[in-house]
Amino acid sequence: RAKREAEISRHSQALETANTLYRQQLRTATAAVSYLKGRGLSGEVAARFGMGWASGDRQGLSQVFPTYDDPLLVEAGLVILSEDGRRYDRFRERIMFPIRNGRGHLIGFGGRIVGKGEPKYLNSPETPIFSKGTELYGLWEAKQAIRSAGQVVVVEGYMDVVALAQMGVEHAVATLGTATTPVHIQKLLRASDNVVFAFDGDKAGRKAAWRALEACLPLLRDDVSLRFLFLPDDHDPDSFIREFGLEGFRAALRDATALSQFMLGELAERHRMDEAEGRARCVHDAKPLLQAMPAGAIRLQIQRELATLTRLTPEELGQLLQLQDVPSG
Ligand code: CTP
Ligand code: MN
Ligand code: MN
Ligand code: MN
Ligand code: MN
Repeated sequence: RAKREAEISRHSQALETANTLYRQQLRTATAAVSYLKGRGLSGEVAARFGMGWASGDRQGLSQVFPTYDDPLLVEAGLVILSEDGRRYDRFRERIMFPIRNGRGHLIGFGGRIVGKGEPKYLNSPETPIFSKGTELYGLWEAKQAIRSAGQVVVVEGYMDVVALAQMGVEHAVATLGTATTPVHIQKLLRASDNVVFAFDGDKAGRKAAWRALEACLPLLRDDVSLRFLFLPDDHDPDSFIREFGLEGFRAALRDATALSQFMLGELAERHRMDEAEGRARCVHDAKPLLQAMPAGAIRLQIQRELATLTRLTPEELGQLLQLQDVPSG
């Protein structure tokens, strides 16, 4: 435990040192600044998220690390050690988003290219202190706002978090380009009992919403609200709030679809509900979803609606589902 703390702190300090340079460099990086301004972001919001600029210098970090060949820099994902033994900065010519854990320790970076190019985002590799599948970008920065809003909004991208904050929605966090995991849900529900997922309106975003729903099921409780905001096809939260404004986004949040409605609507859409075979297959597909849910009023409610949908009596459906009586936590 103490060893782990020391490891986090050693890595984190190295990342802080790098971020000091990145932040300083953003002040004079005219192309990056005008790119951010063009996306509607102010210097205050950039500063609030500790955003920076990694220059094109191949060993830019040697300015702040006296021993550039310290293995820690490679371990922390800041420096890449090539096959021929040469070292160079991982992040070059990118706008830098520092990623903090729930306690405010710097654990990694996301870096966006300015304009077009591949990959659009480059993230820190998995390191002893950074794992993409468990962290939420912006959670530390949003903590206070989540408490006062009584809600947390989950988005896909760094830019979504920052743009929402710019427009006055300060209680948003992002998954780091990975599917929502049970660990994410645990962290979200610890932060608030009211979670709204607002993924991109494209096909990938809709798929991500379904994955998030699946990750939610084992943690469903009768005293939490889990909702899904479906944006128009060509929008993400960043583009949406810039087009429709704070009020437009707030209205969309209020209209977000309840988890039960999303789940049942999706199940109905995937099957021919006008045919006995379709309704039977619907029950078949619903079974693992309901089995993943702990016993409780919300499972009973969904079960009742599913019975109506599939034209079974609640008793018939109950027999088919073979639900365990595992209570929620
Ligand atoms: N992502 C990533 N690597 C990529 C593309 C995306 O890690 N090559 C992650 C990033 O965390 C990104 C998120 O997935 O923020 C969402 O991707 P996308 O919707 O493509 O990015 P946006 O945040 O909308 O980026 P932008 O508005 O800057 O184009
Ligand atoms: Mn997308
Ligand atoms: Mn409770
Ligand atoms: Mn975007
Ligand atoms: Mn997007």
